[in-house]
Amino acid sequence: MADSLNKLFTEDASFDDFSRTQVAMVVSDPHLEDNPIIYVNRAFTIQTGYARSAVIGRNCRFLQGEDTDIAAVNHIREGIARRESVTADILNYRANGEPFMNRLLIAPLTDKAGKLRYFVGIQKEMDAGLKDTAPEIADAQLSEIQDRVESDISLIISMVRRQSNAASAPTEYVALTRRIETFQLLYEEMKLSDNQADRDNIHIGSYLSRLCCAIGHAYGRSGIRLNVQLESLDVPIETASRVGLVVSEILTNAFQHAFHRIETGLIEVRMSKLSAGGLRLTISDDGLGIPNSMKWPDPSTAGGRIVTGLIEGMEGTLQLSRGAAGSLFTIEVPAGASLQG
Ligand SMILES: Cc1cc2nc3c(=O)[nH]c(=O)nc-3n(C[C@H](O)[C@H](O)[C@H](O)COP(=O)(O)O)c2cc1C
Repeated sequence: MADSLNKLFTEDASFDDFSRTQVAMVVSDPHLEDNPIIYVNRAFTIQTGYARSAVIGRNCRFLQGEDTDIAAVNHIREGIARRESVTADILNYRANGEPFMNRLLIAPLTDKAGKLRYFVGIQKEMDAGLKDTAPEIADAQLSEIQDRVESDISLIISMVRRQSNAASAPTEYVALTRRIETFQLLYEEMKLSDNQADRDNIHIGSYLSRLCCAIGHAYGRSGIRLNVQLESLDVPIETASRVGLVVSEILTNAFQHAFHRIETGLIEVRMSKLSAGGLRLTISDDGLGIPNSMKWPDPSTAGGRIVTGLIEGMEGTLQLSRGAAGSLFTIEVPAGASLQG
C-alpha cells in the first residue's frame, strides 16, 4: 500500500510539494523494542532522502553519524527517558551522506489517562546561518501542525485500542498502516485547500476521490471496476478524517472479499448532500454479498469496531442492504455533528 501511494504521489506533479508546512515528522512507538519509527510523513522522506520503507521499524538514531555531538544525543536520550518534551540542534546525515543541522523537537503523546502512547518528532532543517542560535522551535506554524497531528494521533490511538482485542497478526499491521495512510491523503488535501478562505473545512469530494483511487490502485485487479461519483461538498476536517476512514474500511473489504473467485464486477462509491445538510454516502458492489448469517459491522473484528465507533462518534447512521447480488452500504452523517471519540 505504501508503495502504491508513493507511486501515486510521484506520478502527479501537484503532490510534489506534499507537506502542509514542509515540516518533517515521525512517530515512534516506545512500547516496541528500541522505540522504532512507526510513521513518517513525506516531508521527512524528502528531507532525509530515505524511503519510507527504509525507515519504518528503525530507531531514529540512524540519522546520526561521525560528527554528531554526543552531548546532544545524551540530552535527547535523557529527555526521552524522563518522557518529557526535548529539543536539540543535532547534526544528522541524509541517505546520500550529506550532513545537515536538524532542529529537533520530540514530544510524548499520552492518552486521556495520561499514559504514554507514542513520541512524535518534528525535524526542521536549519539554514547554515542559524546554526548558532538557541533552539526556538515552537513557532506558530509548528504548533498548528502539532495540534493537528496530536488530534489525529489520538484518533489512531483509539483505533489501536479497539484493535488490541484482536490477534496482532501481521495482517492487522497492514490494516493499521492503511488507516494511517488515509490521514496522509487528508494532509495532502489540506495542503491543496490552503488557499481557501475557510481553512477549517475541506473539499471532501476531492479527498474521497483520491482516497478511493489509492485504495483501488492498491487492492484492485483487472475486471473489477470502481466507479466514483461524489458531489462537491465542504465539511469540517474532523468529519472528513472520520468519513475517510469509514470509506477506507468498507472499500478495502469490498475489494478483498466481495469478488472471491469472481472475474468481473463493479464497486460504486457515491456521495450526495442531504437536504437538511450533512451527507449521504453509499458504497455498493455486485459481488458475493454478505451472508445473512454474518453480522456487519462485526464487533468481533477490529475493522467492525472501528467503523461502528467512527459512525457513532459522528452521530451518523449506517445501513446494510443485502441484495440478490452484492451489498449496499448507506452512511448518513448529519451536518454539525458534535464529533466525539
Ligand atoms: C520521535 C523521535 C524522533 C527522533 N528523531 C531524531 C532525529 O531526527 N535525529 C536524531 O538524530 N535523533 C532522533 N531521535 C533520537 C534517537 O532516536 C535516540 O533517541 C537518541 O539517539 C538517543 O538515544 P540513544 O543514545 O539510544 O541513541 C528521535 C527520537 C524519537 C523518539
